[in-house]
Amino acid sequence: KSPLRIGVAGLGTVGSAVIRIVGERAAALEASVGRPIIVTAVTARDRSRDRGVDLSGVRWHENALSLAADPEVDLFVELIGGADGAARLAVEAALAAGKPVVTANKALIAARGQDLALKAEAAGVALAFEAAVAGGIPIIRTLREALPASRVTRISGILNGTCNYILSRMEEEGLSFADCLADAKRLGYAEADPTFDIGGFDTAHKLAILASLAFGTRVDADSIYIEGIANIESLDLATADELGYRIKLLGVATRTDAGIEQRVHPTMVPKRSALAEVMGVTNAVAIDGSAVGELTLVGPGAGGDATASAVIADIMDVARGAVRAPFGISAADLEEPVRAPIRTH
Ligand code: HSE
Repeated sequence: KSPLRIGVAGLGTVGSAVIRIVGERAAALEASVGRPIIVTAVTARDRSRDRGVDLSGVRWHENALSLAADPEVDLFVELIGGADGAARLAVEAALAAGKPVVTANKALIAARGQDLALKAEAAGVALAFEAAVAGGIPIIRTLREALPASRVTRISGILNGTCNYILSRMEEEGLSFADCLADAKRLGYAEADPTFDIGGFDTAHKLAILASLAFGTRVDADSIYIEGIANIESLDLATADELGYRIKLLGVATRTDAGIEQRVHPTMVPKRSALAEVMGVTNAVAIDGSAVGELTLVGPGAGGDATASAVIADIMDVARGAVRAPFGISAADLEEPVRAPIRTH
């Protein structure tokens, strides 16, 4: 069978891991989808950097737009990031050319998810973003495909690995905020601009995407109340500890009688609760649904290999010919969310 030829835009932590794993597991991936998956072309800002992956035989493009337009690229994989600029233009170009898109770009999906989904549906191709939320946890699939019997009333969790890593190490090892953040950057967990992590914006992007899938509403990132962890000090963690709590940065989206409430802020959680035990770069997502009850998924929330795992799952869906509505239902049918007033603490 003909190979699926992938073009990868962005060769940071995640892009490099995708290329390495697609190479290492080529035989297993082919056996699973019934056709070879090959990385045929790439683009990245710095061509000379050694990424520790074999790029021989892979063509380089000057930019993401030309990669998206390459007639020998069947699937465009966007790992550049950012809600605007090159990532958005290239994703739109790929969809306009009738090519499926796989992306890890939560900022882009949070800002333009419905619009891009409409374009993908019009073109009859996939727009898949499993890697955009909670790294290796298959949460998008779970919401999109596994809970048809449930009306979801609440979705919440720890959605930013960097923040949870910082808070965990500050508490467990008494390290400073700055040292923990530096380690999170070095380990490839943090965003290129870590303000997105510690300011709570990355959590908000992910929460907006989850709420859309969970409630069947348009992605509504603008209505989220956001407070990050920049002001959390060791003393706060120690005080919470004495009272029997841990501080976690949570994202919470709830259906209330007044509409949908979405918020992101540091939260005191009782030490004996499941969320309190989620330490390090791990994420957790809890779903409350009418039929399923409460379901919690826990796993690595950031990092090259874990996020690449989600990207590759989406690539394999495309290789199998699966074309699903990106938000589970047609983007045209996503309801306009009623915004509930935020109850702050
Ligand atoms: N910077 C993000 C995090 C990466 O720390 O969770 C994964 O989206």
